[in-house]
Amino acid sequence: MVTKSELVDVIRSASNPEEFRELNWTGTFGQYLDIVLRHPEILRSAHQRLYDMILSFGTEETTVHKEKVTRYKFFSDPLGHGRDAIFGLEKTLAGLVDHFKSAAYGYGTERRVLLLHGPVGSSKSTIVRLLKRGIEHYSRTREGALYTFAWKVEENGHEVVIPDPMHDEPLRLLPEEARNRIISRLNAQRKGAYQIRVVGEPSPVSRYYMNELLKKYDGDIDKVLEHVVVRRLVLSERDRIGIGTFQPKDEKNQDSTELTGDVNYRKLAEFGSESDPRAFNFDGEFNVANRGLIEFIEVLKLDVAFLYDLLGASQEHSIKPKKFAQTSIDEVIIGHTNEPEYRKLMSNELMEAFRDRTVKIDVPYNLRLDNEIRIYEKDFNQNRVSKHIAPHTLEVASMWAILTRLKPTKKGDLSLMDKLKLYNGKSLERYTEENIRELREENAREGLDGISPRYIQDKVSNALVRPYSTTCVNPFMVLHELEAGLDHHSLITSEDTRKQYRDLLAVAKEEYAEIVKNEVQRAIAADEVQIQRLCANYIDNVKAYTQKEKVRNVYTNQEEEPDERLMRSIEEKIDVRESAKDDFRREIMNYIGALAVEGKQFEYRMNPRLQRALEKKLFEDQKDSIKLTSLVSSVVDRETQEKIDVIKARLIKNYGYNEESATDALNFVASIFARGDVKSKG
Ligand SMILES: Nc1ncnc2c1ncn2[C@@H]1O[C@H](COP(=O)(O)OP(=O)(O)O)[C@@H](O)[C@H]1O
Ligand SMILES: [Mg+2]
Repeated sequence: MVTKSELVDVIRSASNPEEFRELNWTGTFGQYLDIVLRHPEILRSAHQRLYDMILSFGTEETTVHKEKVTRYKFFSDPLGHGRDAIFGLEKTLAGLVDHFKSAAYGYGTERRVLLLHGPVGSSKSTIVRLLKRGIEHYSRTREGALYTFAWKVEENGHEVVIPDPMHDEPLRLLPEEARNRIISRLNAQRKGAYQIRVVGEPSPVSRYYMNELLKKYDGDIDKVLEHVVVRRLVLSERDRIGIGTFQPKDEKNQDSTELTGDVNYRKLAEFGSESDPRAFNFDGEFNVANRGLIEFIEVLKLDVAFLYDLLGASQEHSIKPKKFAQTSIDEVIIGHTNEPEYRKLMSNELMEAFRDRTVKIDVPYNLRLDNEIRIYEKDFNQNRVSKHIAPHTLEVASMWAILTRLKPTKKGDLSLMDKLKLYNGKSLERYTEENIRELREENAREGLDGISPRYIQDKVSNALVRPYSTTCVNPFMVLHELEAGLDHHSLITSEDTRKQYRDLLAVAKEEYAEIVKNEVQRAIAADEVQIQRLCANYIDNVKAYTQKEKVRNVYTNQEEEPDERLMRSIEEKIDVRESAKDDFRREIMNYIGALAVEGKQFEYRMNPRLQRALEKKLFEDQKDSIKLTSLVSSVVDRETQEKIDVIKARLIKNYGYNEESATDALNFVASIFARGDVKSKG
């Protein structure tokens, strides 16, 4: 039983009064100057803060296909939610961060619209969502802190507090010259790499109060600033502070007030004039997003007039609310778009200005299997779904997704499946990582077409809710859903493509057969005692062979020649050629010798290749005695049943199956053997 006091404890531990006090700090303009003197980085622009936020999570160097790339840890689940991590796309993300970096340094990209471009479901929205969550989080930390202000004034005999509607930086209130002098001093003492700038005018509302108070105090700015209450600013999309999102509706309904705010008709009666800033709601997305980031979903579906607003906003860092002069903004502008719209943009001459002022970053699909699998593992991990997901289920779906994205090479001697494996880090006989760049350059469109992760996610979800089975989902169920969905897939426009995708399902299925067969083989052969015995036997023979000695036969106690047939039958299992066998054997003996020097004993697990060879050999020896094929018949004798149960238990314990999925796997492998269509190599 949970007691009430336990619940109360939970509630207490979730509250953090100290943090609350920090985030709700208020003070005078003078106190703010003190803080800024100590921490000039408070004055960073939106681009600079975003860039530092990404860096604050750290970086590491990796290589992608032999090329050095910086990986920004920010993109791998930075806040530990287990959601919103980007897998792969290292080069894309590095390009994105470079864009922010150059904006932070003031090299020009801070005056461009950043356009994420790519096929549907390539994680464009996810990237932007991550950035939004990132700056929200950062604004709550000490190193990411930023501030805004309100006016404390008297209206109709009452003291009222009027927040700056665009939560502007307090230093913007200073006359430009004084401000610049202060900032250049701060820059001089700052160790940071880039220069801090606070440019632009206060919002119309603050300009109004500024002017009124200056009149009242006869130009005494000190007195005016006494009316300013500075406070900490916490960015929050939910509260519409520092983060905006704009999604175009149908073309006729687009209205600029959604971007730049609108007259407040109720207040209009009070203040009498549409150009009185107090009678205006500065609550358009551009206003809201000041100090942070604005996202334009499907930006190229915007009305052309809006696109020009957007250009002004990025180029001049200012917007024009109805009836007001240009108003300064400081925010990162990111749009995303799918391919068809982008192609329209490219072919429209009128849009040249727009093209010229955007920086396009391609966000392609993953082409690396491991990364694709991780996408779905994140979505369908076992904490989230109630059914068991059989081993290789997500792998097979990922495989198919990637196969649909790959283009055949013109060289022609590389199957798509081999290409997939090569991209995933496997060296093939004639191709290694060295060749990948060549292959990638052969087809620039690779990664821009094919099946999207969203389709896979939807179909796996379908498979999970269907009554195929009450306990698990296996690869066949998912493959079935993937195939069934093709008929209605809205993005597949040609029959050829549909057929091609179907054929690739068969390719993925065939690969799965190989994988599961190997796994069952290993489970059958995973008999510790027998493997050890076989290993000892092999090593005895290898030792005798390399030292040109004889072996003592344990049964007959006779000295015999090393058993060449036995050794070869094991080595062949892992493709050790006749010409290479001496090297292979010598290597093993050297290894064992080195171990012996350290007083250690060799175990078969120390050499994964040898282990695999031993398992395969053992499987071959046992296959017939276990009568796997009898699994598919309905009557199974007790002895066979016992053996099958042992194998099943191993599949469950060592390979992550459950009762039902293990049975499925065994049945499937049995049916392969029953058909006899096993590849000779196995
Ligand atoms: N490289 C990737 N890493 C992680 N998740 C991805 C990746 N590519 C696609 N996804 C996932 O696919 C789904 C669709 O992504 P989304 O960001 O909505 O795409 P877009 O906005 O490009 O259409 C999301 O669940 C997303 O997490
Ligand atoms: Mg999207």
